[in-house]
Amino acid sequence: MTNELTPALLRRLAEDFRARTNSGRVRALLVAGSGLGFEVPGWEAEETIPFGEIFPFPIQTLEGHSETLTLWRRGEDTLLVMNGRLHLYQGYRPEEVVAPVRLAALLGAGIMIATNATGAIDPAIEPGSIVVITDHLNLQGRNPLVGPWAREFGTQFPDMSQAYDPELIAIARRAAAAAGFEVSEGVYAGVLGPSFETPAEVRALRTLGASVVGMSTVPEVIAARHMGMRVMALSLAANPAAGIRTEALSHEEVLQAGKAAAGRLRKLVRLLVEELIPDQP
Ligand code: HPA
Repeated sequence: MTNELTPALLRRLAEDFRARTNSGRVRALLVAGSGLGFEVPGWEAEETIPFGEIFPFPIQTLEGHSETLTLWRRGEDTLLVMNGRLHLYQGYRPEEVVAPVRLAALLGAGIMIATNATGAIDPAIEPGSIVVITDHLNLQGRNPLVGPWAREFGTQFPDMSQAYDPELIAIARRAAAAAGFEVSEGVYAGVLGPSFETPAEVRALRTLGASVVGMSTVPEVIAARHMGMRVMALSLAANPAAGIRTEALSHEEVLQAGKAAAGRLRKLVRLLVEELIPDQP
């Protein structure tokens, strides 16, 4: 039986983390979908810790990568970067999926920037392009706030009318323009996975108002908003969603598109961090 990740336990984990890392002033959490390397001038990667050394529940290890948390430092400021994330479709419980987000919030992070890969439902969204998420549809059938104690992290019925911070969306739009590439904006449909959608499901999602579809991010955004963090999510449209074109979908294609667009996404994240966390003496 794994421990319940109650507020008391998470507070203890946050204290242990602080003691272990001397984490300074944690400003933001960046959730880097797998493969997004990260570099911002002035910030140094100080330490990388596997999730398994932070959280008291079993972390699955896939060959070739492990989920870790890297502390980036600039003077007293810390940026927490999640390399990889936990997904519901792996069998993690919702409170496990959002444990790193809650930890970051308890350490003081006021902003979460989440990145992910999606299938493009809106035909105007080109594969390989970046989409700034403006809203979501939670179609995962789960919510990390269900249960007897989640409300201790925040209000029981949190407002989600501006889950994706309008000011941050505007900043992302400006930063992309400054970097010389276009971004689209759209609604993220969060599904459970891990099978890709059927063409009928994609038609239904389109009718529901979704622009892109993915298997992550929604629980993290709910938990982050619940704890008062400002949220931005950037999506790499890795492939046309099922039925938008005739070929079958493959995980390899998603990974390839990720590699091709990673440079742009990295640049956008760098500009956002520079703008959102200015270097103050
Ligand atoms: N569907 C769901 N999740 C995804 C997709 C997709 O087509 N591409 C990348 N993640």
